Amino acid sequence: MIELHRVSKVYSVGPVKVPALREVSFRVDKGEFVVLTGASGAGKTTLLRLLYRDDLPSEGDVEVLGYGLVAMRRSEVAPLRRSIGVVFQDAKLLPVRTVYENVAFVLRVLGTPRRDITARAFDALRMVGLSARAQAYPAQLSQGEAQRAALARAIVRRPPLLLADEPTGNLDEAMAAEIVDVLKDIGAGGTTIVLATHQARLAAGLRRRTLTLEGGRVVKDEG
Ligand SMILES: Nc1ncnc2c1ncn2[C@@H]1O[C@H](COP(=O)(O)OP(=O)(O)O)[C@@H](O)[C@H]1O
Ligand SMILES: [Mg+2]
Repeated sequence: MIELHRVSKVYSVGPVKVPALREVSFRVDKGEFVVLTGASGAGKTTLLRLLYRDDLPSEGDVEVLGYGLVAMRRSEVAPLRRSIGVVFQDAKLLPVRTVYENVAFVLRVLGTPRRDITARAFDALRMVGLSARAQAYPAQLSQGEAQRAALARAIVRRPPLLLADEPTGNLDEAMAAEIVDVLKDIGAGGTTIVLATHQARLAAGLRRRTLTLEGGRVVKDEG
């Protein structure tokens, strides 16, 4: 599903070289739920960005869903991205569209038949416990509901891989717990999940395989 082999990433900021990842190697099997933790600046976001090919490593190989990401042709990037759901700290919903439309939009641009769109959008909303809020606008949602809407949008294509970068970063503990429960449900359905969080308590409470990054290195792989 995911395989990294001695992956390093160095950002150049003017004349300064910033090492973000150093010789990172690991693999994730289909259906695994992996927590990526470590302090702010440890390299979590950089690592996730390499997985959906938002950026390329400076050295090493990244394989995701059978694609070699380093040698990948441009034409393969779109199919890869369609197979990966991504959520961020900020839900990034379109403010002038309802929750339903925010989710359905993803299928519409894929050319999905109309009646399938409705059924699948509602499936995704049900999965995140938001069916009753389908006709609400983003401004009417709590931050937790907004984040669940973002999750519904990320899974509506039924991607085999879901990446979440600090999805609970803006939430209080109760709402964060809801998001974690939804992620576990999605994982139980067979979706492979990589969840990045700097919140050590939340990471520990998940009871899932946890990779700890420190200064761009994987210093622990437990669980
Ligand atoms: N686009 C960038 N340009 C320069 N440096 C970056 C960039 N993105 C991240 N970094 C640096 O790389 C390191 C890892 O950052 P990041 O992956 O965002 O860590 P985390 O998500 O764990 O907080 C940090 O030192 C950060 O400042
Ligand atoms: Mg980050």
